[in-house]
Amino acid sequence: MTDIEIKENIETTINKEEEEENTETILMNPTTIINKIGGYEFFRNVLKSPKLVVAPMVDHTYLAFRMLTRKYGADLVYTPMFHSKNFVTCKTYRKDNFTTCPEDRPLVVQFCGNDPEWVVKAAKLVEDRCDAIDLNLGCPQQIARRGNYGSFLLDKPHIILPIVRELHKNIKVPIFCKIRLLPDLKDTIKLALDLQEAGCQLLTVHGRTKEQKGQYSGHANWDAIRQIKEVLHIPVIANGSVVKFDDIDRCLEASKADGIMSAEGLLANPSFFCGKDISIYQVAHEYMDFSIQYTTAGHIVRSHLFKMLKEKFDNYSDLRDKMGETHTIDGFRDIVNELENRYKTGAPFIKCLTNKQKRELKEKEDQDKQENEKKQKTENDENLNNNVDNNNNNNSNNTENK
Ligand SMILES: Cc1cc2nc3c(=O)[nH]c(=O)nc-3n(C[C@H](O)[C@H](O)[C@H](O)COP(=O)(O)O)c2cc1C
Repeated sequence: MTDIEIKENIETTINKEEEEENTETILMNPTTIINKIGGYEFFRNVLKSPKLVVAPMVDHTYLAFRMLTRKYGADLVYTPMFHSKNFVTCKTYRKDNFTTCPEDRPLVVQFCGNDPEWVVKAAKLVEDRCDAIDLNLGCPQQIARRGNYGSFLLDKPHIILPIVRELHKNIKVPIFCKIRLLPDLKDTIKLALDLQEAGCQLLTVHGRTKEQKGQYSGHANWDAIRQIKEVLHIPVIANGSVVKFDDIDRCLEASKADGIMSAEGLLANPSFFCGKDISIYQVAHEYMDFSIQYTTAGHIVRSHLFKMLKEKFDNYSDLRDKMGETHTIDGFRDIVNELENRYKTGAPFIKCLTNKQKRELKEKEDQDKQENEKKQKTENDENLNNNVDNNNNNNSNNTENK
């Protein structure tokens, strides 16, 4: 399974005019320790022991998609990761990315960052509209390397632990963390214990290392999650390789975790938690209904539809291309209806190349062309050298003959 590229929109350039100057009004108060329940008490009494959790997904787990997954059995849902400093300083970024409603609960808001002050300020802005705050310690993308957050902090406890401590001290709701595995399980276990000690009230473990991404992602290590779970006294959610209904119990059995979290499986089939065979066209239409109800940007809707209907589009790639050029919900609906109708009536398949395939083909052609030119040049050079040698030989023979 491939990690989908996380778009760089979290790098939203902050327009100076949008910067809010009075962010100091949200002050950290390091001396106040807020009285709150946590750990299993919170997990059972407030969250109602959630077993099926929707993963945080940049560009995807916005309100409309969250409501769709709740409809099909999700017990707990995460927002996409928000960049804490951008969230505090840029009103537009905040408005564009975080919307919620009373039915959107229980909800976890996820932030990334490497500075306790910004993360606490960001969390303060949403603490009354969510059930917990999660710190992203799993993002493996280049943008996280450059920004020094996500999985690039896993081996920097001196940065992570103060953030968790400050959040725990200053934020009304419990603090969760989402980690990946470190190369050595002993180090991951140590980190998990340290996070628990710092105030983390629930840990999600994505059973892959930060190097396991894209084509190298492989199957998540559920046994490693079990070993981490064994040493903790806070709830643990297992993440990775849960892509269909049967995987849920297999993962719970192998990891002994309190719940499972799924990402890519839900993008392809947002209803799989319910264990019923729901038509993907129906789910696509329901998603579009939610997108209208909870105003969602066209490119986000399109991106979800591409993922839900990926296999269907593979046989009618003209419709995939058309979807890429469509910008309205009515236009999307027509394409989904046409797709369904073609399958129903057994219309002949149309398989043209996708843009990606076209790009790859062009790259291959260019590469072949370059190699041929190089080969030709080498051959020409060799011929030239042979001719020169022959000429030299002839000349020396002639001289000798004289
Ligand atoms: C499109 C996409 C966006 C993601 N964005 C986030 C994110 O914002 N925060 C995060 O912690 N993980 C993010 N992830 C990782 C997932 O939450 C999850 O850890 C990972 O995909 C493994 O779960 P899976 O095997 O069920 O896909 C993202 C994954 C995908 C596919």
